Amino acid sequence: MAILKIARMGHPVLLQRAAPVEDPTAPEIRRLAADMIETMEDAQGAGLAAPQVHVPLRLFVFRVNPDRATGDADDTAVLPHRVVINPSVTFIGEDARLRWEGCLSIPGLRAAVPRAWRIRYAGVDTDNQPVGGEVTGFHAGVVQHEYDHLDGIMYPMRMTDFSLFGFNEELMRAAQSQMATKASGS
Ligand code: NI
Repeated sequence: MAILKIARMGHPVLLQRAAPVEDPTAPEIRRLAADMIETMEDAQGAGLAAPQVHVPLRLFVFRVNPDRATGDADDTAVLPHRVVINPSVTFIGEDARLRWEGCLSIPGLRAAVPRAWRIRYAGVDTDNQPVGGEVTGFHAGVVQHEYDHLDGIMYPMRMTDFSLFGFNEELMRAAQSQMATKASGS
């Protein structure tokens, strides 16, 4: 296994449409998926798409950590990590909500991006077994984000309100001072 180099926004590989994986069970695809999981975990990311590691193929990995799962019946469950190859995504219903996203290719920044609350997605894993299902919340959001990478779409291209875009540190500082103001009752 290996930690892979992550392409940052501005690199052309992030803007191209990725090609389908011909054989999801091929040894090089298994190795790529394993390396991507290791790279995602090392970078403390929630998801990583193959174009982000300079491989323009339709494959991504993601995970739903316990701190992301709200426990609400309509929200997401914890998922250690999942490989999704040659995926399709269908929006269910009209409900779109702003969710805060970061991206390993846009380090240090976050933004609020409108995403469908409920989706259905389908793909296969490296054993060619079907993965996916109908999901909501964080799970649905991260799948939409990673799927976009396969079509050369970065999250700023989905944004509608650029005032909700900033550096993690500044956004955290702003949230903390807002909480302090609320706590003091002013
Ligand atoms: Ni990303």
